[in-house]
Amino acid sequence: MSGSVLVTGGAGYIGTHICVALIEAGFTVSVLDNYYNSNPVSLDRVAHITGQSLARIQGDVRDHKTLSDALQQSGATAVIHCAGLKAVSESVQEPLHYYDHNVVGTLRLLEAMAQCQVKTLIFSSSATVYGNPQFLPLTEEHPLAPTNPYGHSKLMVEKMLRDVFTADPSWRIGMLRYFNPVGAHPSGLIGEDPQGLPNNLLPFVAQVAIGRHPVLNIWGDDYDTPDGTGVRDYVHVTDLAKGHLCALQQLAASKTGHCTAINLGTGTGYSVLDVVRAFEQASGQSVPYRIMPRRPGDVATCFASPQLAQQLLGWQAQQDLLAMCTDAWRWQSDNPQGYTNAL
Ligand code: NAD
Ligand code: UD1
Repeated sequence: MSGSVLVTGGAGYIGTHICVALIEAGFTVSVLDNYYNSNPVSLDRVAHITGQSLARIQGDVRDHKTLSDALQQSGATAVIHCAGLKAVSESVQEPLHYYDHNVVGTLRLLEAMAQCQVKTLIFSSSATVYGNPQFLPLTEEHPLAPTNPYGHSKLMVEKMLRDVFTADPSWRIGMLRYFNPVGAHPSGLIGEDPQGLPNNLLPFVAQVAIGRHPVLNIWGDDYDTPDGTGVRDYVHVTDLAKGHLCALQQLAASKTGHCTAINLGTGTGYSVLDVVRAFEQASGQSVPYRIMPRRPGDVATCFASPQLAQQLLGWQAQQDLLAMCTDAWRWQSDNPQGYTNAL
């Protein structure tokens, strides 16, 4: 595969893994990121893993000129749009901030793409657009009813993309709804580097295992699940990155335009206790935990139907929970403070 791809938010957790996959597949990659929630060291690591350089543009997706310059200079024929904010609780406190980065940022990007005649886009959407599951597994036809401003912002973007496609069906748009991305590149050089106290389970478990926190709080063990703790569809971030390659390939090969939402998950749910046990096995460390009350807004069980991804993209997640924990532990133990103080 060849061609030039612009990755917005490419210095972040998922973006770095997508950059590695793209470069290894033969693409020329440019990253546009304002480093709001990332560290440029992550891109040095991408270059180290791949043995190839990548163009970096420090800038904001809400800035039209930055975007059109980036598109023109990179000669990109496709954009993978990962830039955005993702913390649910913060989005409840600061909704306008979320609409600004996520919705306005995408609006500006679409304007610049239209102006530069770049009409192939993969958007980082989220299973959060479904809201509380009414049936399982979650298929793409499940009603869309997000329960917080972060989720609303993702759904607004999906609607905006559908409207853009209706007005101009030559666009090729993939909206990839990620379930729970976890794990890290097997090199241990790139991974998730949350700032402050992690909200999500895997990074918190990893930080307990490395000794940054004494104990994991498990939010509820009285759910209607096999062991009472919440069940989620964890998907290895390198599998997720490959899903973007498959989507790019399909969009490029297609004779017509598209605007399609596709789940990226494994189809298998694991409980919090399953994750704790797998992490202990992978790391050889103990992960002390205590049971706490349920976290407001959490659901008991959430997992994907991965069938459409298989059918349309030929993509299927390959890696199991133990591999996800093994790679997360390698990243955590090689980089106890993430990218902070890293060379
Ligand atoms: P991340 O925070 O690690 O990466 C996002 C990147 O976007 C960061 O490098 C950040 O600096 C950059 N960014 C933010 N606002 C920007 C702006 N206005 N202009 C330029 N750059 C900006 O997050 P991630 O986990 O890699 O997530 C990537 C995308 O996937 C996000 O859109 C997120 O909503 C979505 N997503 C993530 C998850 C998850 O669990 N990680 C799940 C579903 C969907
Ligand atoms: C969260 C977001 C969701 C986002 C997803 C991406 C919320 C309400 N939802 O979902 O929008 O798409 O991340 O990864 O924040 N848990 C603990 N202790 C912890 C942390 C988590 O027991 O310290 C439990 C949770 O109760 C849940 C499971 O672990 O059962 C997974 O939690 P988390 O990693 O935060 O992901 P989600 O809740 O699925």
